[in-house]
Amino acid sequence: TTEAKLDLVKKHIKAFPDFPIKGILFRDICPILKDPGALTAVIDLFEEHVRQTHHQVELIAGLDARGFLFGPLLAQRLGVGFVLIRKKGKLPGRTVSVPYTLEYGQAEVEMQEDAVAPGQKVLLIDDLLATGGTLSAACELLRKNKAELLGCVVVIEMKDLRGSERIKPATVFSLIQY
Ligand code: PRP
Ligand code: MG
Repeated sequence: TTEAKLDLVKKHIKAFPDFPIKGILFRDICPILKDPGALTAVIDLFEEHVRQTHHQVELIAGLDARGFLFGPLLAQRLGVGFVLIRKKGKLPGRTVSVPYTLEYGQAEVEMQEDAVAPGQKVLLIDDLLATGGTLSAACELLRKNKAELLGCVVVIEMKDLRGSERIKPATVFSLIQY
């Protein structure tokens, strides 16, 4: 059942206090990847959501780096392609990029210019939504590329940080909330 799958996923998320800096409780998804059952549960739950809510999806776009762990698995399940949204400087050829602010400093997300066709129906995927800086930059990137963004999916949402507000009008579906 959905409940049992969510329980299994939750059991495979480990909390690390004071990482990467003091005061941050880091939620680690590595145990999910190490357990085939838990990983299957994640993809099952995402698949169920997408088939119900975004059945018209044509492409999955995943975020560097941990979005790459789940995105291709989901894309294969759904029978659609997967494209990479990378941190700047990693992709060859003509690219489009969007800068965003981190807690300390700046970063930039980038994708290949021809990764998405105009009007293509795209779903964004990442492991975790915190402040929403990363996903909102990715949303902006897809807008720049004239994609039709259906929504975002993440394994974990840190509710207190209000990332879902920041990515509006895009919507987010999360499996586990803290
Ligand atoms: C982490 C996480 C999300 C992002 C969420 O990635 O994987 O992508 O932070 O934070 P935000 O909502 O505040 O933007 P990070 O860039 O730390 O590293 P990664 O390359 O391991 O995914
Ligand atoms: Mg990340």
